[in-house]
Amino acid sequence: MDETSDRIGFWDREFGEHSDAERASEVYTLGSPLFWKTYGDRRFGSEPGALGWIPWLLRTYRPRRVLELGCGTGDLSLDLARRGFADRFVAVDLSSVAVEHGRAKAAADGLADAVAFRTGDLNDLTLDDEPFDLVIAQMAVHHVDRLEVLCERIQRCLSPGGSFAINEYVGPNRWQLTRMQTALANALLARMPKRYRFQTDGHFRLKVPRFTVEEMIARDPTESPRSEDIEPVFRDHFHVDHRIDYGGSIATLVFDSIVGNLREDDPKAVLWFKRVMRVDHWARLTRLVPVTNLVLAGRSRSITTGA
Ligand SMILES: C[S@@+](CC[C@H](N)C(=O)[O-])C[C@H]1O[C@@H](n2cnc3c(N)ncnc32)[C@H](O)[C@@H]1O
Repeated sequence: MDETSDRIGFWDREFGEHSDAERASEVYTLGSPLFWKTYGDRRFGSEPGALGWIPWLLRTYRPRRVLELGCGTGDLSLDLARRGFADRFVAVDLSSVAVEHGRAKAAADGLADAVAFRTGDLNDLTLDDEPFDLVIAQMAVHHVDRLEVLCERIQRCLSPGGSFAINEYVGPNRWQLTRMQTALANALLARMPKRYRFQTDGHFRLKVPRFTVEEMIARDPTESPRSEDIEPVFRDHFHVDHRIDYGGSIATLVFDSIVGNLREDDPKAVLWFKRVMRVDHWARLTRLVPVTNLVLAGRSRSITTGA
């Protein structure tokens, strides 16, 4: 198998095994309503039924045509389409399995005309639907090796004055956590009541796992090959209008795989969440740990935009 089919195979298997958004709220800290309610909301505002940066996107942009990169099964575009954010969405992903799930959801929701799904590789993106007023990506650009090529393609497909807005992991390449990140996360984890520490796979979360680069590539060949370069490459190609560091450098390490145990109606769980988020905030403010999750948005530096 070559590298490209390795990458496609990985994501096809992921989406073949679990396609639903519910899993995200059980496994990933950034998919958890508690994360947004205890902390993230302050940065992005709130909107009924919306998580993450969606309220901010709704407030900040009025696009007609939107392109979403690395859309997975399309939840972001479908949610934005339901809220009347734009007339037309094109949602692209490497995995044809994900794209098929997305198409089925769009059809079931009567949104098949509003959201068109395409397969495509962000390392070599070709589009025949341009121009777009807004290009968005959520936790997808950090899977890309050829960041410069991607940014150039985005510049070309944006309408004049159009924006590129990403919500991304920008932490250590290949998830090579710093010693301080793991020390803080493990100290918090050790103090957390045992009942919150059982993972979705049934194992007890004793410590934050660390993997070598080789182990990471074996687990997911697309995981953050150049995440540390995202912000500088973005700045080379786009004037930054918004930069929002919304946290997670410690919290994601503590809560990933166990976050589903912490429920909003459990006051102790909410307290724990707030405690971890305070440490997360303090550690980033004092630069003890790297910024890992960032919204970056801007307009093209290229004068040939839209040409
Ligand atoms: C972490 S998931 C995020 C999915 C979705 N954006 C979300 O927020 O739920 C990463 C997504 O990027 C896609 N992806 C990874 N590498 C890609 C590439 N080179 N080109 C296009 N999509 C890619 C994966 O198939 C997957 O759907």
